[in-house]
Amino acid sequence: MSGEPIGAIEAKAIGLVDQIAEGDLVTAAVAFAEQVIGRKPLPSVRELAGHIDQAKREPSTFEKVRKDIAARSRGGKAALRCVDAVQAAVDLPFDEGMKREQALFKEALESTESLALRHIFFAERQAAKIPDVEANTPTLPVRRVAVLGAGTMGGGIAMAFANAGIAAILVDREQALVDKGLEIIKKNYASTVSKGKLAQSEMDARVARVTGATNWDGFGEVDLVIEAVFEEMGLKKEIFGKLDKACRKDAILATNTSTLDVNEIAQSTSRPEQVIGLHFFSPANVMRLLEIVRGSATSKPVVATAMKLSKQINKVGVLVGVCPGFVGNRMLHAYFRESNFLLEEGALPQQIDGVMTRFGLAMGPCATSDLAGLDVGWRIRKGQPKPKPPERYSGAVGDRLAEMGRFGQKTGAGFYRYQPGSRTPTPDPEVEAIIVAVSKELGIERRAVTDDEILERCMYSMINEGAKILDEGIALRASDIDTVWINGYGFPAHRGGPMFYADTVGLPVIYARVLEFAAKHGKVWTPSPLLERLAREKKTFASLDADKG
Ligand SMILES: NC(=O)c1ccc[n+]([C@@H]2O[C@H](COP(=O)([O-])OP(=O)(O)OC[C@H]3O[C@@H](n4cnc5c(N)ncnc54)[C@H](O)[C@@H]3O)[C@@H](O)[C@H]2O)c1
Repeated sequence: MSGEPIGAIEAKAIGLVDQIAEGDLVTAAVAFAEQVIGRKPLPSVRELAGHIDQAKREPSTFEKVRKDIAARSRGGKAALRCVDAVQAAVDLPFDEGMKREQALFKEALESTESLALRHIFFAERQAAKIPDVEANTPTLPVRRVAVLGAGTMGGGIAMAFANAGIAAILVDREQALVDKGLEIIKKNYASTVSKGKLAQSEMDARVARVTGATNWDGFGEVDLVIEAVFEEMGLKKEIFGKLDKACRKDAILATNTSTLDVNEIAQSTSRPEQVIGLHFFSPANVMRLLEIVRGSATSKPVVATAMKLSKQINKVGVLVGVCPGFVGNRMLHAYFRESNFLLEEGALPQQIDGVMTRFGLAMGPCATSDLAGLDVGWRIRKGQPKPKPPERYSGAVGDRLAEMGRFGQKTGAGFYRYQPGSRTPTPDPEVEAIIVAVSKELGIERRAVTDDEILERCMYSMINEGAKILDEGIALRASDIDTVWINGYGFPAHRGGPMFYADTVGLPVIYARVLEFAAKHGKVWTPSPLLERLAREKKTFASLDADKG
């Protein structure tokens, strides 16, 4: 049901194939055919009942499998249709079972889900092509890297390289911090080994590829440095200025910044053409997405090297431009803003998260905030000016929770409550009281918010921002945006990504709603000029991608 390929030996063991040919295939096939025609009467597969006897005796098996798959497929129907087809083979006479299977196949083939999954398959491959960086652009060999900062991201990034056979030096300010980083890496690998998913010898080889250091002595030999220190512009500029002197002239200097201006960082070196953003997602050893941030001076060979490297370290690289939040976080910001406004207007975390998970997202916005930590946004907002009325401030509820020390999972409470050691969010009446109080303070009369409104405001805010990103050239294609969301944000593949989903709803429908929201909720809903144009011309984001070739 997973679509995972299996090998010939396993196929033989489960009765999927009759025989495995060793040596010359034609000789073996002829021998096999002779052996088969020798049997009288000829065996007919349709009469083989052995395989289905057990399922016949235990019809509840199907319900169990369905339940398990439904939980994993997040609303996708393809795998469930496979179960239906297998059940038809068990319950119905052979010919009727075949008919049922064919009908199910046709349903699956013609579904939007199938279109979405094919779209994502090609979108991922398309993302690797950069129109102005020709396929024959020379790339620089990356054999040895340095990762600066052994914190949450640095450790995961070093693992991603070690997994791909590339040696990494993990550097922090003090030996204790380096040791802690190395220890976490070992623990992560050990946990994979204990689950039987990695051989001990392979773990040892990977661990050996990561060496720790508190100095930059080895930096003269590295081909690439990835900086993952604290998110402070002053610190990053200082570090890039020093890296410029410590590294070989042809070495690439990359930053993992989530929010800072890559061009400004590049300017603190004498080689801005060798500077690029490599924006990994947490946990960096697991998440497949890599946003590759092209600065205004980044050279084509450096872009080509980063794209190639993403494949080497088993990531999906998507080239994006410089702007606050790049592609993923900029859209996430719009989506979370609406989620927060909906809370103030009458919704509760469990209602919003319920709508979004039923849509297929791995987690809703409130549970995601609890996972990331409510203190992160709170600290950032403290350093920024608040919007002036009538523009609304979207941090009111989050600030209140953070001020109470409710930072999310790590403190056992945030938008939800968490039992010690558990990651399962439990709705908390205390949070409801806080949200109701915030609404009152803001003079907002709470109302019943419908599930439809939640889905529209969460999705259309994201899509409108995505259209602006496309218009500004921050993303090369709508399908690149979809690739970002599927691989970095738990967006359900069977919906094809936010931009593909927008096309299935229809851009004129979305544009009309965006106009209504703009009239009601103000400037943040200003429609993207691109969305407006495509809606008027009754076009799709896919047609825009196709026009670009
Ligand atoms: N945490 C995330 O989910 C996430 C995701 C993507 C990108 N990022 C970005 O990655 C970077 C690191 O984030 P993090 O969450 O790993 O932070 P962190 O606080 O876990 O780790 C930062 C590490 O950098 C070290 N450090 C600070 N100054 C240093 C110096 N001068 N030399 C060497 N090491 C130094 C610190 O000691 C610390 O161990 C930030 O720019 C952040 O915006 C974070």
